[in-house]
Amino acid sequence: MTVAVLTGVPGVGATTLAEHGLEELSERDVEYEVVSFGTVMLEVARDEGLVEERDEMRKLPSETQRDVQRQAGERISDMAEDANIMVDTHCTISTPEGYLPGLPKWVLDGLQPDVIVLVEATADEILFRRLDDETRERDFEGTEEITEHQEMNRAAAMSYATLTGATVKTIENSDGGLEEAASELADTLE
Ligand code: AP5
Repeated sequence: MTVAVLTGVPGVGATTLAEHGLEELSERDVEYEVVSFGTVMLEVARDEGLVEERDEMRKLPSETQRDVQRQAGERISDMAEDANIMVDTHCTISTPEGYLPGLPKWVLDGLQPDVIVLVEATADEILFRRLDDETRERDFEGTEEITEHQEMNRAAAMSYATLTGATVKTIENSDGGLEEAASELADTLE
C-alpha cells in the first residue's frame, strides 16, 4: 500500500487538488483514499472538548496541538494498513508560538510515507485564493510571510524524507492549471 502525503500552505489548493487527482487516478484504475489530517485532528480535539472549529486548532497551546496530532497520526496509521492513502496535511503549521512541524518523528514513525508532495503556487495566487474563500476563518498573511512559509515547508519536507526515505515531489497548482496539476499528481502516484 502506498502512503502519499499531500501538503501545502493553507489556501494553496491541496484539498482541491486531492479531489481532482483522485478522479484522475480512478480513471486509470488506481484507487486511493484521501484522509484529511486536519479533519481527524478536529475529531480528536472535539472529542476532548478543546475546540469547535478547525481554524481554532492552530491557536491551541503547542503542547496540546502535539498531543492531538499524535492521536490523529495513530488513527491514520491504522487506516493505511488496508488502502492506498493520500494524507492531506501540512509540513508546518504557523502558530502563535512559531512553526510547528506537521509530521514530527512520532507521527512519521507510524505513517512511513512513500512520497511527500508539496503543492505550491505563487504567493500572490495564494493570497487571493484565501481572500476569495469566505467559508473559512483564515489568518491574514502578506506575500512575504506566505513565501517564508513555503520555504519552511520545503525544508521540513526534505527533513521528513531524510528520516523515512520518502521522495519529495513539488507540483505547481497555478491559476487555471488545476487539471495539469491533477494529471501530474496522478503520474506521481499511479
Ligand atoms: P486543513 O483541514 O488542512 O485546512 P487548511 O490548513 O486551511 O487547508 P485547506 O485544506 O483548507 O486549504 P487548501 O490548501 O487545501 O485549499 P483549498 O483546496 O481549500 O487543516 C486544518 C487545521 O488542522 C490546520 O490549521 C492545523 O491546525 C491542523 N493540522 C492539519 N494537519 C496538521 C498536522 N500534521 N499537524 C498539526 N496540525 C495539523 O483551496 C483554497 C481555494 O483555492 C478554494 O477556493 C479553491 O477553489 C481555490 N483553488 C484551488 N486550486 C486552484 C487553482 N488551480 N486555481 C484557482 N483557484 C484554485
